[in-house]
Amino acid sequence: MKDPLFGNKVAAAVLAAALLIFGLPQLTKAILGGGEHGGGHAEELHLAYCCVELETSAATGDAVEEVYDLGALLADASIAGGERRSALCASCHTFAEGGADGTGPNLWNIVGRQVGGVSGFGYTSVLQDDGGAWTYERLDAYLRNSQEYMPGTAMVQRFPRDNQRADILAYLGSLSASPAPFPAPLPVVEVTEADAEADHGEDAEAH
Ligand code: HEC
Repeated sequence: MKDPLFGNKVAAAVLAAALLIFGLPQLTKAILGGGEHGGGHAEELHLAYCCVELETSAATGDAVEEVYDLGALLADASIAGGERRSALCASCHTFAEGGADGTGPNLWNIVGRQVGGVSGFGYTSVLQDDGGAWTYERLDAYLRNSQEYMPGTAMVQRFPRDNQRADILAYLGSLSASPAPFPAPLPVVEVTEADAEADHGEDAEAH
């Protein structure tokens, strides 16, 4: 069966899609305004692209992929800074040996302690089923985003800043008569002279 309005419907659909993508002002400019505005817009887009790119390479120093190194973060961490930040936890947790449980369990000796290990505290089954002992690595993941690491845990906390989280972890590690040693930083990958030469060669070629 032929739909006499089929062509119009297609045109309307195309226009609607274009409106969604470009927005009305851009589309009007593109159709009515001619090359001048269109060109300006393209330049804006290009600039935005260029600067995002610049920022990333400035942050990482080079186009080198950043490797997450908890050992190095902990080696640089401040226990005193972590103690200050632990004020964020204090509404639910105590830290001293023998401290009371609150909304969350007491955290003395937490590094190396059994996950869900405070007897008498009403943990979720999610947390208890995780099993094993708390390591710096597991605590790091839990504190970065508790719900992502352990969906359904009763604690809903996110500490996305690596150095601030490392301070908190260092403080948690200190809450013990015999603190667990930090994981070792990753070995530094030596740049050999041959690599440096190769880089140099590439650079020279590019220019
Ligand atoms: C709003 C309350 C609240 C805040 C704030 C909070 N927590 Fe929790 N936390 C909980 C609860 C509730 C649990 C138990 C979770 C479960 O059973 O699933 C928990 C569990 C934990 C556990 C696991 C304990 C165990 O015995 O296995 C750790 C570690 C922990 N929290 C650390 C922290 C740290 C460190 C902070 C601050 C940086 C913090 N929490 C902030 C409520 C909180």
